[in-house]
Amino acid sequence: MTRTQVVIVGAGPAGLLLGQLLHKEGIDTLILERRSAEYVGGRIRAGVLEQGTVDVLEHAGVASRLRSEGLVHDGVEIGFRGRRHRIDLKALTGKAVTVYGQTEVTHDLMNARAASGAPSVYEAEDVALHGLDGSSARVTYTHRGVAHEVSCDFVAGCDGFHGVSRRSIPASLLKIFERVYPFGWLGLLADVRPPWNELIYASSDRGFALASMRSPTRVRCYVQCSLDDRVENWSDEQFWDEFRRRIGEEFASQVPTVPSLEKSIAPLRSFVAEPMRYGRLFLAGDAAHIVPPTGAKGLNLAVSDVLYLYEALRGHYRERSASSLDDYSPRCLRRIWRAERFSWWMTSQLHSQPEDAFGLRMQQTELEYLFDSHAAQISMAENYVGLPF
Ligand code: FAD
Ligand code: DHB
Repeated sequence: MTRTQVVIVGAGPAGLLLGQLLHKEGIDTLILERRSAEYVGGRIRAGVLEQGTVDVLEHAGVASRLRSEGLVHDGVEIGFRGRRHRIDLKALTGKAVTVYGQTEVTHDLMNARAASGAPSVYEAEDVALHGLDGSSARVTYTHRGVAHEVSCDFVAGCDGFHGVSRRSIPASLLKIFERVYPFGWLGLLADVRPPWNELIYASSDRGFALASMRSPTRVRCYVQCSLDDRVENWSDEQFWDEFRRRIGEEFASQVPTVPSLEKSIAPLRSFVAEPMRYGRLFLAGDAAHIVPPTGAKGLNLAVSDVLYLYEALRGHYRERSASSLDDYSPRCLRRIWRAERFSWWMTSQLHSQPEDAFGLRMQQTELEYLFDSHAAQISMAENYVGLPF
């Protein structure tokens, strides 16, 4: 049996970033990831980073490419039934957001991990957690047919929504809050110059659409789809036709039908599990909570959890603080619930829902109020750029 200080389950952005921050602090970690490195590095997901996230990546020493290739956006556009309004993030809050793909963040973190020499095991099967409520924890797993066992002080559960960590907490000790929305997002990635300078979140009577980008030559676009839809049902032509009908006249004529590099469907869900600690196990990122993607909060929340967990572990190991580990879950949850509220609000206002007439009027009134009220715009902008870490 080997030994380390912290076993990190999952090599998504949460697990890799925690590994990097703890390595810089001289705290030993082992990362266990179920998938291959190629699979993890190829997943297309988030695209918008808050300034707080950029600051943490700087602190972790993994921001040099982000600094040169990230696209700083001072504003974001909201479209509603043909009307479009720019929310001037910079003027309203003094802050901006950075467009830089999660794929790139993951690559930068994987490179840093490899350079540090700290151990990671990809394709680790049957990861199981033991002794979480005792005086020391153990983690067992199988790799290439060989069984392994590691003893540790703590386990960081960074293994996403479907991981093993949250399921290792007795159900009677967890309180679950959940809302599943009756629609999903179909996303498409393509190599073409984005005709829009900033992101556009558009609500149309055919459903929601989002115009985003990854670089000056690559777009990422989404359309609201039904929950039981399949990627195979959508040719690239059908996607672009639908996107053009929803995004508004100005851009409809400027979007060519280009072949996709990737297409995928994501269901939309709000989810929080409380508390985020069970004995020696700490949950971080999607393992503990999910937000619907409208509002771009998921990756950013994973980063604030990881910052707090790093500070808690540093407090425990370096300053012998008795309270830093106890503060972790309540500190995370305060920020998480505010991001849950904002993501739920953005989702509810911009998507077509099987609503009654009153619900539709409320959506319309909410967006008109946003377009006309400086106070409402400040509130939206301060949430979009990210509440303080
Ligand atoms: P994950 O990225 O899910 O990583 C968990 C890792 O754990 C995975 O690699 C998984 O393979 C591994 N794992 C799972 N089970 C096990 C096991 N049993 N043993 C070992 N390893 C295991 N967020 C934003 O902030 N901005 C956006 O613009 C945005 N857009 C999005 C768009 C889409 C279409 C989607 C789907 C998500 C989006 N998100 C966005 C959310 C964001 O991608 C996630 O919140 C983020 O990936 C969470 O990181 P994580 O490390 O917690 O979890
Ligand atoms: C992207 C995804 C989001 O969920 C969002 O709100 C903004 C941008 C993207 O993938 O680019």
